[in-house]
Amino acid sequence: MAVLQWDQEVYMPAMGATLRAQQLATLSGMAHDLGVEKELGSLLEELSKSDSLNKIEKINVTETLRVYNDRKKYNTAFVIELSKTVSESFNAWQEAKRKKDFNLFLPFLSKLVDLKKKECDLLGYEEHPYDALLNQFEPGLKTKKVSAIFTQLHNQLIPVTKKIADASQPNTDFLHLHFDKNKQWDFSLILLKQLNYDFNKGRQDISTHPFTTGFNANDVRVTTRINENDLFEMIGSSIHECGHALYEQGLPVNDYGLPSGEFLSLAIHESQSRLWENKVGRSLSFWKCNFQTLKNTFPDQLKNISVQQFYAAINTVKPSFIRTNADELTYHLHIMIRFELERDLFEGKIDVADLKNEWNKKYNNYLGLKVEDDSQGILQDVHWSHGMFGYFPTYSLGSMYAAQFFEAAKNEIKNLEAEIESGSNLPLLNWLREKIHRHGKTFSADELCINITGSELNIDFFMNYIKEKYANLYSFNL
Ligand code: CO
Repeated sequence: MAVLQWDQEVYMPAMGATLRAQQLATLSGMAHDLGVEKELGSLLEELSKSDSLNKIEKINVTETLRVYNDRKKYNTAFVIELSKTVSESFNAWQEAKRKKDFNLFLPFLSKLVDLKKKECDLLGYEEHPYDALLNQFEPGLKTKKVSAIFTQLHNQLIPVTKKIADASQPNTDFLHLHFDKNKQWDFSLILLKQLNYDFNKGRQDISTHPFTTGFNANDVRVTTRINENDLFEMIGSSIHECGHALYEQGLPVNDYGLPSGEFLSLAIHESQSRLWENKVGRSLSFWKCNFQTLKNTFPDQLKNISVQQFYAAINTVKPSFIRTNADELTYHLHIMIRFELERDLFEGKIDVADLKNEWNKKYNNYLGLKVEDDSQGILQDVHWSHGMFGYFPTYSLGSMYAAQFFEAAKNEIKNLEAEIESGSNLPLLNWLREKIHRHGKTFSADELCINITGSELNIDFFMNYIKEKYANLYSFNL
């Protein structure tokens, strides 16, 4: 299924879509049937009672049994209805986005939300229906905890974004000159090599929405997107996806097919992409090493630009409509808006019909932006049309984990920033491999974070990093 999906995003001709959807539906049906087979259940039950298992084996059995039991909660009729509704919703969303009209998507989204509410009941929850959805992406995460983290984050981010808004903005014009597609492609390969992406275990292609897919630790593929009028779009997405891929290339390949060979959770996955993208790819150290190569690739466009000017330009903070193009700070305001809407929706506090108004109100309150049309507002993300509710918070949590992990790395790796400046990114990768990648799913996210940093997830690490970096870049005092 992963190979078919990868092909669909990267190479498949447009006319292939309908039958490809059918092929994928057939395979997911088969996977579901195999995954709920009685014999599998009784073998897992038997194994879970065995005393002969070591610690890792025990975790593999318990985790596989948990997934098995969750899968059993679905009946075939529900699975088919959900899958059909998702296909229809995705088509409706594409058309609605093209026509900039949320109303075309509304009836499909309503139906999908009703089904997802049913799914919350099927799966069960202790405190909040939305917990059931969060747990599909981030096992054990509670709505209450996300609310608390986001309230803290909101209160601390707003004063910083206000200070930045009052400061003078760096020149970013040179990032928007014309940058040849092929030359950008060549530079993206240089970036991947520089970051130790293993091309014997992967490849890069082009797609509209950059993504990483791992079939196993020995075949982890990335895509990037190239915008000839925005140089950092390729750079940012290449480094981001490379971070995801380094994680999967570092999973224990001998544990293929077992939880101990799989990534831990989406937030931890995102912590790896954000760590490389933001802590490395948006750092002065990294560009002190790589800016000359970039300049050699684009000598005319970057002729009079210093590395300091480049560093300032790629770290510009400015509220904007589109989440995926947002800077490191305002990005989280985009996520909070989506989280609050999803939470209120599943709590029954708001209705699908209220979403657009609520969305626009929040964009005005949090980002000071007046949404002019639905395609740059409520229709911008694909997630809801795929029925993926509970996914967005993992993006922000990933950044928070990244900041906390990177702080630990700086404490443990001698002269980490000097290493990066000299072009040596291997000490950091090896550290991540040792602390995170090789463990697969054998810890919970909380346990992993405590093991590495000595404490649970704490947004102070992120806020301290943000304050120091941006007070410096925008010359203000905090
Ligand atoms: Co990502």
